[in-house]
Amino acid sequence: MKIAINTGGGDAPGLNAAIRAATKAALKRGWEVIGLKNGYGSLFTDKPFVQLDHDAVQGITMLGGTILGAANRGNPFEMPVTNEDGTRGTEDRSDEVISKLKELGVDAVVAIGGDGSMHIANKLAQKGMKVVGVPKTIDNDIWDCDMTLGFDTACSIATDAIDRIHTTAESHQRVMIVEVMGRYAGWIALHSGMAATADIILIPEIPFTMESVIKKINDVHRHGREYVMIVAAEGATLKEGDHFVKGKQEGQAERLGGLAQFLEKEIMEHTDKEARSVVLGHQQRGGRPSALDRLISLRFGSEAVRAIEDGDFNKMIVMQKNEITRIPLEQVAGRFKTVPLDGDTIRTARDLGKCLGD
Ligand code: F6P
Repeated sequence: MKIAINTGGGDAPGLNAAIRAATKAALKRGWEVIGLKNGYGSLFTDKPFVQLDHDAVQGITMLGGTILGAANRGNPFEMPVTNEDGTRGTEDRSDEVISKLKELGVDAVVAIGGDGSMHIANKLAQKGMKVVGVPKTIDNDIWDCDMTLGFDTACSIATDAIDRIHTTAESHQRVMIVEVMGRYAGWIALHSGMAATADIILIPEIPFTMESVIKKINDVHRHGREYVMIVAAEGATLKEGDHFVKGKQEGQAERLGGLAQFLEKEIMEHTDKEARSVVLGHQQRGGRPSALDRLISLRFGSEAVRAIEDGDFNKMIVMQKNEITRIPLEQVAGRFKTVPLDGDTIRTARDLGKCLGD
C-alpha cells in the first residue's frame, strides 16, 4: 500500500500533527507514504512530493503550518491558467492529477482540508480515486463534524487578543471592534467573543442592524461602563446587506473583510464615542496548536489510515460527541455547518446579555 497525503486550502494549527499520525500509522503497517508538496498542483512540477518516513515527521506535532505546504489555488478541477491573450482563467486537470497519482503508484489519498478540499476529494472519488478526508479549518464549518482541527487554537488566539484589547479600550474609553475570521460561519466570533466577554458579537447567522449595535453601546454607557467591546465575524452582514468583500481572484473563494472598518465609521458618526477597529487576520491560523488541536489532529490522522486499512474509502473522518467516526464524503460535499440559532451557546449568550445585533 502506498498513500499520498495532501494538505489543501489554507493552513491551520494541527495539520502537522495529522500528517505525523497518518504517516506513523501507515509506516507501522509497512506502507509507503508520500506527501504532496503545496497541494495537487505540485503534480505538474518536477518535485511533486516528499517521502514521508519516521525522520520526516519527527518533532512536528507542536509546529504550526504544514510541512507539506498549502495551496488554495490547487483545485484540480479549476487549475489557474494564463490564456493566450494574457487573461487569467481556470481549466479542469483532474484526469491528469489522477493519472499522475497512478504513475506514482499511489493507492489512496489522505486529503486533509476544509469544505472546498472535501468537495474536491468527493469529485476525485467519483472519478475512481480512493480518498479519505480529514477535516481541517479554523472556521469549524465542516458539515456533521463537531470540531475541526485548527478551530480550538484559533479561538484561543482570538480570545487572547480580545483580552489584550480590553485594557486599551478601558484606558481610552473607546468602542473597540475586533474582526475575526470564520468565513460564512460565526464559530470563532461566538466562542472567542463569549470567552473574552465581548458586549456585542456579530455573526453571519444573525444579520445585524446598526440600530441594535448603537443601542447596546448606549446601554453599556448608561450603566456606567465607558468602553465597549465588539467582536465581529468577517462574514457577518447587515440585515439588508451583503458580505463585506475585499476581493476575488480566479479559481479562489472571495476574500472577506471590511466589516470592522465599516462599524468603526458608523459608530463614530452615530455616537459621541471614539471607535477603533482591529482585524486579527492570519495570526489566528499561525503558531503552535493547542493541546486539544494536537490531540484531535493525531486522532483524525491515524483514523484515516485505519479507514484505508478497512477499505472504507470515500469517507471523511469526523468528531461526533467526542468520538472519532467516519461519514460518506458525498454527505459533506457542498454543505457547511453554521452556528445553530437554537443551540445552547446562543441561548447562553442571550442569557448573559450579549447583543447579537438583531
Ligand atoms: O478558511 C480559513 C480562512 O482563514 C478564513 O477564515 C478566511 O476567510 C480565509 O481562510 C482567508 O484566506 P486567505 O488565507 O486565502 O486570505
